[in-house]
Amino acid sequence: DWTPDSFIETTIAALKDKLGDDKVVLGLSGGVDSSVAAVLLHHAIGKNLHCIFVDNGLLRKDEFESVLESYKHMGLNIKGVDAKQRFYDALQGLSDPEKKRKAIGRVFIEVFDDAAHEVQDVKWLGQGTIYPDVIESVSIKGPSATIKSHHNVGGLPDFMKLKVVEPLNTLFKDEVRRVGRALEIDDNILGRHPFPGPGLAIRILGEITPEKVAILQEADAIYINNLRSAGVYDKVWQAGAIYLPVQSVGVMGDERTYENVICLRAVESLDGMTADWCHLPYDLLAKISNEIINNVKGINRVVYDISSKPPATIEWE
Ligand code: XMP
Repeated sequence: DWTPDSFIETTIAALKDKLGDDKVVLGLSGGVDSSVAAVLLHHAIGKNLHCIFVDNGLLRKDEFESVLESYKHMGLNIKGVDAKQRFYDALQGLSDPEKKRKAIGRVFIEVFDDAAHEVQDVKWLGQGTIYPDVIESVSIKGPSATIKSHHNVGGLPDFMKLKVVEPLNTLFKDEVRRVGRALEIDDNILGRHPFPGPGLAIRILGEITPEKVAILQEADAIYINNLRSAGVYDKVWQAGAIYLPVQSVGVMGDERTYENVICLRAVESLDGMTADWCHLPYDLLAKISNEIINNVKGINRVVYDISSKPPATIEWE
């Protein structure tokens, strides 16, 4: 019978066998899969696992620092790479969602390749690929798939020539979570909502600027913190704020304002393929709206998305 403990035991033994004294590089994203894969590899090969965590400047507020701290706390050998400016530069002038995704995928590969080169004599690329990713390799979602879609673009970066080790490629998502819990991974990592690889870049409609990112990070943090303190966060499958490229008139004291709109999105779903909008309590929505409008400069209006998927996708881009 499959149990998390038996899986962990046999997997660690198999990894030790397979990897010996070889070095492995692995990109961490803050998500469940890459984190669980890293911890399993860490148990098997310790410091020979070299983790890389890239700050693309498109993460949630304070996420890079807090997740990096959690990883270090878990004893992982991890390098944080501040690549914010490289991503902002590559995104400059782009407003088409697919062009933004491609630019982010390209820069991620460059940054990761640079960081991987700093690990001497590395033999393996570790990945958090899970079973659904394997059977559905046509998916355009997720970092591993992003990498696949770049296979055809010129020569391969060096890290893609490495042998691949994927300790989770027989597991479904709920099994990965159970394994993560048995490994005592922080609930701050295991329990988090899915977050897209391109991050806030696809929650800022149109062109990205660091200023818009900062505004969205503030609004999103108010939203998510309120979901948490109301005890609603764990009941929602995914939530996030979206920065709309729309200005509307407001009034602040005696002043007329002409500022942007933040849209709140929260959905219930099993796998992201279909989704229903969450019926969040009105008084919670009211509190979040007030806090955002009173505290986030540049925002004078908050709206709530009441569309389900299909036809409305979860993300707006
Ligand atoms: P949609 O918007 O297609 O989203 O209903 C379904 C799920 O996929 C996530 N998503 C992405 N994840 N790269 C990712 O890694 C992407 O480009 C991407 N686009 C959407 C979305 O957050 C939701 O969980």
